[in-house]
Amino acid sequence: MIRGVILAGGKGTRLGELTKVTNKHLLPVGPYPMVYHPLKKLTGAGLTDILLVSGTEHMGDFIELLGSGKDHGCRLTYRVQDEAGGIAQALGLAELFCTDSRSCVLLGDNIFQASLKPMLDAATAKPDWAWIGLKEVHDPGRYGVAELNGERVIGIEEKPKNPKSNLAVVGIYIYPPDVFSVIKTLKPSGRGELEITDVNNYYLKSGRMGFSTLDGYWTDAGTLDSLDVANDLVRKVAPTF
Ligand code: G1P
Repeated sequence: MIRGVILAGGKGTRLGELTKVTNKHLLPVGPYPMVYHPLKKLTGAGLTDILLVSGTEHMGDFIELLGSGKDHGCRLTYRVQDEAGGIAQALGLAELFCTDSRSCVLLGDNIFQASLKPMLDAATAKPDWAWIGLKEVHDPGRYGVAELNGERVIGIEEKPKNPKSNLAVVGIYIYPPDVFSVIKTLKPSGRGELEITDVNNYYLKSGRMGFSTLDGYWTDAGTLDSLDVANDLVRKVAPTF
């Protein structure tokens, strides 16, 4: 059993005036509000139980837009994040929703071309492992960066000054049910957040970490420049849902 989790919180401060009265994930990317992209990736890969996490300010708008999920062929559950405390903190709110199930977690501002299905299939072959997506980028210092030794991830660093590779850890993560006990052991990072990179390093150290390399384009859409890039990419080649 695997359930979907879309993380759609945050203040969107890097988008300036665009997010003054709305949430980043409601801004357009191609013909859809941004949040449709992760939602369609999950439903396209066959997931039907999906949790959306966001702050109090715009949860009403998400509910108005997506409702029960019926129009998207899924069942949606909503969970409010009182304050933004990092990706791992937001994922921690999915604990009751994912009791006994694995979770496929998408950052709501990650836009990518390929179907989720191959990565889900690969991860499902190792159900007690964590699974991450990797993508070659030209500016790895903006992301979590993975160091590989052959076919093994041997380290992940969050926004390193001197990246050990050009492989970004993208915002697509698959976890076994024990992820919630891992999150409970985390301490806030220098930027005051519970880091998903710390969760991933836990699995890496315990020898339960796999990865898939993403085909096609991938970008986040959390800055003015990357939101433009996302729109260009999606208009040129529609993503596979
Ligand atoms: C987050 C993660 C980072 C990951 C990125 C993908 O960064 O912390 O590891 O590579 O998402 O979009 P943030 O968007 O919080 O800067």
